[in-house]
Amino acid sequence: MSQSIGVEYVEARYAIILAAGKGTRMKSKLYKVLHPVCGKPMVEHIMNRVTETEPAQIVTIVGHGAEMVKEQLGERTEYALQAEQLGTGHAVVQAEAFLKGKKGTTLVISGDTPLLTTETLNNLFDYHQGKNASVTILTAHAEDPTGYGRIIRDHVGIVEKIVEQKDASTEEALVKEINTGTYCFDNELLFDALSKLDTDNAQGEYYLTDIIEILKEDGKIIAAYQTEDFNESLGVNDRLALAEANRLMRARINQAHMRNGVTLIDPAATYIDEGVVIGSDTLIEAGVVIKGQTTIGEDCVITASSQIIDSQIGNNVTIKASVVEESIVHAKADVGPNAHLRPKAEIMEAAHVGNFVEVKNATIGEGTKVGHLTYVGDATLGKNINVGCGVVFVNYDGKNKFKTTVGDNSFIGSGSNLVAPLTIAEETMIAAGSTITQDIPKHSMAIARARQENKADYAKKLPYLNEK
Ligand code: UD1
Ligand code: CA
Repeated sequence: MSQSIGVEYVEARYAIILAAGKGTRMKSKLYKVLHPVCGKPMVEHIMNRVTETEPAQIVTIVGHGAEMVKEQLGERTEYALQAEQLGTGHAVVQAEAFLKGKKGTTLVISGDTPLLTTETLNNLFDYHQGKNASVTILTAHAEDPTGYGRIIRDHVGIVEKIVEQKDASTEEALVKEINTGTYCFDNELLFDALSKLDTDNAQGEYYLTDIIEILKEDGKIIAAYQTEDFNESLGVNDRLALAEANRLMRARINQAHMRNGVTLIDPAATYIDEGVVIGSDTLIEAGVVIKGQTTIGEDCVITASSQIIDSQIGNNVTIKASVVEESIVHAKADVGPNAHLRPKAEIMEAAHVGNFVEVKNATIGEGTKVGHLTYVGDATLGKNINVGCGVVFVNYDGKNKFKTTVGDNSFIGSGSNLVAPLTIAEETMIAAGSTITQDIPKHSMAIARARQENKADYAKKLPYLNEK
């Protein structure tokens, strides 16, 4: 730091993400780091947090499920393949070709600690630089340290080593300060020390944690930075921890929404993915699930058990106990109860989609009402149309799909079938119970059903009335 130059010297930052493990304890076909927490794979959370610390280079170690991990993370990182999973130390060695010999600080982080925050990682970098250490371990105090490496300090509190659960003596196992699996290393010293690792331990693996003792023996400075919040450092090794990680992240997400002015009736039972945007004064009841790339406006009401996935919802919208997928609902519209908006439904302003209505690849125009028990597929409905009860837009002949358009201010009587392809002009009427197979011109009334005939006294001859 020099005032005459006026800039603070910041060391180059690098990052290594460990993501090659299979995750045996998950007992899953899906590779561990790809298991989602609040809608995003764990390794995606890590990638985002690491990116926010602005490293010059990120190297991700892949092995099990390498192709899927690469597909997930894309071009945001370089990749090093760890063909055999011989331990966390061996995993870091794979980054040699990318980073060895470079000057700077390298963050090493696991792909299975999705709750770590950018703030904590930045604090770790700063602490490390301030201490001029060869390594700084991110540690935490755990009430139950089971499964984690223990931080062993000498009588004056200086870190001596990390001991894995399986290698710990009874006394060491009592230590409640744990290794979060996140570290800052002096990059040059890291790769020098890695060559000295061996597999002389309970699991027969190259432990990254053994680096601490190696650096210590070389007389280097070892530092530890303890997070205040153990929850952040939760490592997900099995489904129990996965559920806990989801619970903790859910709480974090929901708290942020409530701070932004969203009412959650029961936050513990409200499931909102990371990245969802919700406007103020929107009220969300219990059991609601909001997933993916979803935006919800202000002053909306989303009632119990609704599911909204990858959708855009405007202001003042009501969604009652409905499923909305890949759809757009404009301001003041209302949906449900028990409606299903399937992909590419667009509900225009102040439109009404009511009970047991299914809409797919269709636009429901401004002010149009589709109130009850209706299927609208592959259609464009104009403004202020009234669709009666039990109308079917017959869009499929068993092989191909066809489109229907309905002009503004039309009226479609209950129980009608509209057999596509059809163009129904504006200001038309369809009589209830019609099966429409031809286009309807403007201002026409279409009626397409068998004429009724009343047979006098015939009912008396039928067995039903005869027996009375
Ligand atoms: C590790 C630490 C432990 C720490 C804990 C924190 C070691 C030896 N132990 O234990 O001290 O308390 O994390 O959560 O480092 N991986 C590879 N290649 C391998 C092995 C693992 O890429 O050969 C990856 C995994 O995909 C995972 C990460 O490294 O993302 C950590 O591996 P894991 O087996 O979960 O280590 P822990 O037993 O949790
Ligand atoms: Ca782990």
